[in-house]
Amino acid sequence: MFFLLVNISANAKWKQNGVTVAGGHGQGDATNQLYLPYSLFVDDNQTVVIADCTNHRIIQWKNGDTTNGQVVAGGKGQGNRLNQLDGPTNVLLDKDTDSLIICNQGNQRVVRWSHRSGKTQGKILIDHIYCYGIAMDEQRYLYVSDARKHEVRRYQLGEKNYTIIASGKGKGAARNQLSIPTYVFVDRQQNVYVSNEQNHRVVK
Ligand SMILES: *[C@@H]1O[C@H](CO)[C@@H](O)[C@H](O)[C@H]1NC(C)=O
Ligand SMILES: *[C@@H]1O[C@H](CO)[C@@H](O)[C@H](O)[C@H]1NC(C)=O
Repeated sequence: MFFLLVNISANAKWKQNGVTVAGGHGQGDATNQLYLPYSLFVDDNQTVVIADCTNHRIIQWKNGDTTNGQVVAGGKGQGNRLNQLDGPTNVLLDKDTDSLIICNQGNQRVVRWSHRSGKTQGKILIDHIYCYGIAMDEQRYLYVSDARKHEVRRYQLGEKNYTIIASGKGKGAARNQLSIPTYVFVDRQQNVYVSNEQNHRVVK
């Protein structure tokens, strides 16, 4: 893989209008629609993979094909069967296994779903967690926020045990507490950034 670095000059002109790359046909569950999309990532081929929360599915849009998306996980109604999702809030790509790791919040689970087409069900990675946000570092540790326990946990991929790395002291506004942690980002030095929704701040 190589990266083409583009230098953008300070006085560059940016396009004034955005281009719809996914959805744009109102709220609904057709493959050209979204219904409260929460988060997304873009892979190396500029495929946009979206947690389409209220459709209980993960849907992707390939670069250059803005007509329809392809459902890659869930999309079988709200439920807790392994072929369903319930209110997914966040999704990331584990490149090593080409699988999607999904915060399946309504089912209080983190699930893994193969990104290859034709896979009709996921696998439970972590259970009993009101996960909102998820991130993975370069050593493939998972960082998951639990919005009901007001903490962020670190898991070795595939393990059920974990370390609490932020808060764990209940809901609150002290500096060792969180109040509804939502999205999580981990940088290359393993600094973890958390959007601490109810405290109206982002903490590291
Ligand atoms: C990008 O597309 C190429 C060609 O279709 C494919 O071989 C490759 O696996 C794709 N990469 C990703 C990250 O999907
Ligand atoms: C989880 O358990 C495994 C296997 O017993 C152990 O190797 C690992 O260190 C544990 N991780 C944590 C975070 O406790």
